Amino acid sequence: MGTSATPEKREGFSSTLGVLAATLGSAVGLGNIWKFPALTGENGGAGFLLIYLCATLLVGLPVMIAELTLGRTARANPIAALKTMSPPGHAWWLVGFMGMLAAFLIMSFYSAVVAWVFAYVWKSLEGSALSSDPVVTEAAFNSLVSSPWQSLLWQWVVLALIGGILLKGVSGGIEAVTKRLMPLLFVLLAGLCVFSLTLDEAAAGLAFLFSPDFAKVDSSVVLTAVGLAFFKMSVGMGTMITYGSYFRSDQNIPLTAGRVMCADLAVSLLAGIAIFPAVFTFGFEPSAGPALVFITLPAVFSQLPFGHGLMVVFFVLTSIAAIGAMLSLLEVPVLILHERFGLKRPQAILACVIMVAALGAACALSASVLADFKLMGRTMFGLADFVSSNLLLPLGGILIALFTGWVWGRDRFTRALSNDGALGNARLASLLVILLKYVSPVLILIVMLQGLGYL
Ligand code: PFF
Repeated sequence: MGTSATPEKREGFSSTLGVLAATLGSAVGLGNIWKFPALTGENGGAGFLLIYLCATLLVGLPVMIAELTLGRTARANPIAALKTMSPPGHAWWLVGFMGMLAAFLIMSFYSAVVAWVFAYVWKSLEGSALSSDPVVTEAAFNSLVSSPWQSLLWQWVVLALIGGILLKGVSGGIEAVTKRLMPLLFVLLAGLCVFSLTLDEAAAGLAFLFSPDFAKVDSSVVLTAVGLAFFKMSVGMGTMITYGSYFRSDQNIPLTAGRVMCADLAVSLLAGIAIFPAVFTFGFEPSAGPALVFITLPAVFSQLPFGHGLMVVFFVLTSIAAIGAMLSLLEVPVLILHERFGLKRPQAILACVIMVAALGAACALSASVLADFKLMGRTMFGLADFVSSNLLLPLGGILIALFTGWVWGRDRFTRALSNDGALGNARLASLLVILLKYVSPVLILIVMLQGLGYL
């Protein structure tokens, strides 16, 4: 392994607002608008939501705080951070390496979905995907995903854009873009919710989302909820170590993480409130899965005054949400290639974009030429999603929690969390240490083993 870049050359986020926007930009993404409603719908609604909430609080938030603190203290990429913070001869840096693999795996399917979202911006401009007839909106979606060239080209557009923004740097690229675009996403989603609540079957949609039916909850549902909590909060793979390394020294980490968690949850719930009333009103299945957003929402928009324009804006903003998340995903391997392997930043970006394009092609083609190519009963798209969300992120989460609680240790963690004594959050630190040492790892392990059929 090479040496780290000198600290004084490191870029970082320039303001508290920028830190919040970039971190929230990473957390808010397709997970909120595409995964959360689909998984909630497939797994029985409110029961799933409750488990997801517990997983976020008991596991997602502590690991997020741990990652941000590790990153800010080490001011380095995840591999270097874990290497310098662990005793000599220990192989904790492998967790950072595993995170880099997870980043590539997630990006390979994530970029394929972002590609659909981008394509839908175009389709909505043309008006071709807009219809109140589910058969028509479904056909429009199928014609996109089953076309190999359309899928690949849109994926390349996405990667070129993300690479281009990263070229502008951490503050000039990531921070500047997320700071401008996150507020717009909230405004539009809130507007959509207001409309959705006026629909005939709004009450049925809300009941589905908010009144729990535990009959549908089994261990694989719990694993899915824990996996989603990790995915949503972008933890378990070093993304937050990477972003933490760009945090200012006076940043209140627990406060920032708490805000990000609440805002991220709000976006997920708003997406659910926008979607489920419409699902019930227009006679769609709540368990339609990932296609829900691409098939249901166009039908909702077709009923709205100015629906055409609103649909364009919605998919533009969904793209924007996805961009913040993609930026953070790509930044993980870019920083590693740059700092650990000595590549210049533009070279590192190019290398990562090419790698994601190669891996991602298998996912983008999963609904067309590679539809019948299955491993472990899943398409490449399904496999990348399953392995990253249900295996790599939870495993990374366990290891990061154990590392912070047991190896780095209570004293150093407490000091770093309180900004060397400037903040009085010693009690919070003690609670977090207990969660990180015992609660989070044990919970995740049980859930993982059960969900995989070992218990
Ligand atoms: N949190 C993002 C979302 O909900 O869409 C996805 C994600 C981003 C996962 C970054 C992991 C990550 F490192």
